Amino acid sequence: MTLQNDPLAALWMPFTANRAFKATPRQLKSAKDMHYTSDDGRQILDGTAGLWAVNAGHCRPSIVAAIQKTAAELDYAPPFQLGHPLSFELATRIADLMPNGLDRIFFTNSGSESVDTALKIALAYQRARGQGTRTRLIGRERGYSGVGFGGISVGGIVNNRRQFGTLLAGVDHLPHTHNLEHNAFTKGRPQWGAHLADNLEAIVALHGAETIAAVIVEPMAGSTGVLVPPQGYLEKLREITTKHGILLIFDEVITGFGRVGGATASGTLGVTPDMITMAKGLTNAAVPMGAVAVSRHVHDGVVEGAADGIELFHGYTYSGHPLAAAAGLATLDLYKSEGIFEHAASLHGYWEDAVHSLKGKRHIIDIRNMGIVAGIELEPRPGAPTKRATELFQKCFDNGLLVRATGDIVALSPPLILQKAHIDEMVGRIAELVETID
Ligand SMILES: Cc1ncc(COP(=O)(O)O)c(C=O)c1O
Repeated sequence: MTLQNDPLAALWMPFTANRAFKATPRQLKSAKDMHYTSDDGRQILDGTAGLWAVNAGHCRPSIVAAIQKTAAELDYAPPFQLGHPLSFELATRIADLMPNGLDRIFFTNSGSESVDTALKIALAYQRARGQGTRTRLIGRERGYSGVGFGGISVGGIVNNRRQFGTLLAGVDHLPHTHNLEHNAFTKGRPQWGAHLADNLEAIVALHGAETIAAVIVEPMAGSTGVLVPPQGYLEKLREITTKHGILLIFDEVITGFGRVGGATASGTLGVTPDMITMAKGLTNAAVPMGAVAVSRHVHDGVVEGAADGIELFHGYTYSGHPLAAAAGLATLDLYKSEGIFEHAASLHGYWEDAVHSLKGKRHIIDIRNMGIVAGIELEPRPGAPTKRATELFQKCFDNGLLVRATGDIVALSPPLILQKAHIDEMVGRIAELVETID
């Protein structure tokens, strides 16, 4: 078949069952606020903020205008040895939103790049302070930290790793915190599980603290199916890393920008890491952009400790791109002027009650929630794991609701401008459709 006859053939789609998709394609052609419009003209309620990203809702006019204006004014400026005002302004604005002390901002273009950047900064910092033996990186089972070699090495989603060889050397993993026996149907943060952070002491004992540069975890693991941190767990990780001179990185690519409360999960939960990675909600996903917020002591350790000249041999052609910076500034303005984080926080209780009302529906073996996020876990179909969630995703889409299927879990993370009626619609539709799946 020629490419002209098959318009879907050329595109190799990311994280997609390409053959199945191309047999029954689903395409979106426009979006506004809480909804997508499909190519066959149907309204689809966005239960996932795109991919955990469009926190302020779709195609917001002020973000569109900022991008359009900047595109006509400064299409691009090289970020190496040159600057432009928008990226400095955005860095200052992000720094203001970060927990105390994390006020040095490095720009990237995605969550994956933010993670690899943070890991590299950790190594550079340890070396700069005369601790060059600290090269090990510790991630977590079931963690998702993007798809760079750093991210998949510290990540713990087996399918994301197994096709790609030996990955980074010198990486170890904490156990994940998922446990249905103790925590099924917990509302919010489970009481059981803080002790799992003590495994870090065992890893330190095994390798020696003098070999470990950093630990990276998502404060709430999203992509693996919404694993909510047990009470006291992140605090313990902070305590143990500090005790051993190990940097703590929170991957907040999903949890940032109002998703679980305030601007960061770190600030909301009161646990301050040494670095925070972000992306997605930073620009409302309107232009790709990521960033790493770095604590002053880590930044100064690398920058002040260096000889004259470039202090960190790292960066991207598009770091702090003008269009992304413009989108980021307009997005942060919108979050503030509309009180979007506060609005979402005012719905946390309603959201929690609504999603937990699905308990008892067919196949559902757990429901987890934090902020405006929910994970609904289905019992795997015998001999065909993941199929039920995939079928529910398809049925929801066919019936006007976008959810995210990951493994046997259906995740919800709608735009934060949602109203109670949207919550009712999402939960009502899932309640009805889950009963129709075998
Ligand atoms: C916690 C976390 N880190 C990193 C990433 C990777 O981000 P990106 O797809 O922008 O590279 C994601 C994406 O979902 C994520 O959830």
